[in-house]
Amino acid sequence: MIRVNLSRVDNSSKNLMKSMKNKVVEIDKMINEKTGEGSDFLGWLDYAKNLKSSEIKRINKTAERIQKNCDVLVVIGIGGSYLGSKAVIDAINGIVNQSPCKVVYMGQTLSPTYTFQMLEYLKDKKIAINVISKSGTTLEPSIAFRLVSELAKKCWGPKKYAKYVVATTDAKKGALHQMAFAEGFEEYVIPDDVGGRYSVFTPVGLIPMAVAGVDISSFIAGVVEGSNEYSSPVLDENEAYKYAVLRYVEKVKNKISVEFLITYEPHFVALAEWWKQLFGESEGKNKKGLLPASLCFTTDLHSMGQFCQEGTPCFFETTIAVGKYQNDVTIPKTLVNLDKLNYLAGKSLSQVEDVAISSTLDAHFVDGKHDNALIEISEMNPFTLGKLMFFFCKACAMSAYLLEINPFNQPGVEIYKARMKDLLKKL
Ligand code: PA5
Repeated sequence: MIRVNLSRVDNSSKNLMKSMKNKVVEIDKMINEKTGEGSDFLGWLDYAKNLKSSEIKRINKTAERIQKNCDVLVVIGIGGSYLGSKAVIDAINGIVNQSPCKVVYMGQTLSPTYTFQMLEYLKDKKIAINVISKSGTTLEPSIAFRLVSELAKKCWGPKKYAKYVVATTDAKKGALHQMAFAEGFEEYVIPDDVGGRYSVFTPVGLIPMAVAGVDISSFIAGVVEGSNEYSSPVLDENEAYKYAVLRYVEKVKNKISVEFLITYEPHFVALAEWWKQLFGESEGKNKKGLLPASLCFTTDLHSMGQFCQEGTPCFFETTIAVGKYQNDVTIPKTLVNLDKLNYLAGKSLSQVEDVAISSTLDAHFVDGKHDNALIEISEMNPFTLGKLMFFFCKACAMSAYLLEINPFNQPGVEIYKARMKDLLKKL
């Protein structure tokens, strides 16, 4: 179950939302009929529904082979090519994870220190590589792939290493596709009509997830349920559209410029990073779009909490609240009770966290006067997470079209790339 609870959103915002219902019907039609700007990148809408069970089987087989033979899978990719799988793996497995085959990330940074330290960590491990790039030419992953390939060659031998490289890329074009063909890497396809930040439902997300032990059939079943549930053009019946319209009202009518996505779990921080890319890269164009920012409470209540309570009123909040915790801990009793916390002895940390959530929501809405939308999820598992990620993708398409923005291109990203290319040639 995923519900957008607007009980801590001001009535004036809710009334403004209602006035948008005809516009929502119009945009929904545009999405379904693929007549909006960028609509040749709407392949993610039905991707999960059309995904063949044979493809899921093939991915699971690849994952089993890697799990059986390797200590580490190095996922090489940047932006949409890594954030989705990291979001899912962290959210499902937790950050302090003991899985036998680890999944680590490279090529998402040019940091010499991070890269050096990862190479040191990997040098005596049995490694597999999943190199992911739709264009096949992105600088950061291409450099990382050069470096990690050297290690893989040392580990498995120059001929055998190709058996431990999986390339996820375009079906026909790009340097990575050519390399995969020449070297004999196993290859998976990123469809032409799915852009990077909408690609978590494809092998881009599914292969690393499967290696990390995430049940990808269940994840895909959640995506399919989301694609059915968020297909209604009626605002009152579509939770994804409700969230999209609230964002529009906050930005355009209430003149708010920032949305804080708030989670209460350190292992959901990567999910918030994925969400930031999704909305930031989709909407941040033509001097428009909410600035998507994220906070992890209660940690950040002891830093940014002050700003949220009494700082510049430039933001609204969206809080993700999960009904059932994945794990729990009981607070012990101590004999001396020096910290005076024995009144909590025998209570669970989840009970304390629940109180922290409702107190913060009230402090920020009632006292701080900030709208706070609550996204309630029954529990966090691969199924609900697949559904939640589809919820955000669908909401993002609606939200960008409400702002009259193409949700599927990223012209601004290309500008730094062009400048960098010119300067790198002079090095
Ligand atoms: O969402 C996007 O399109 C981008 O974030 C890309 O995923 C990112 O730039 C990586 O591109 P590529 O997969 O072509 O290496």
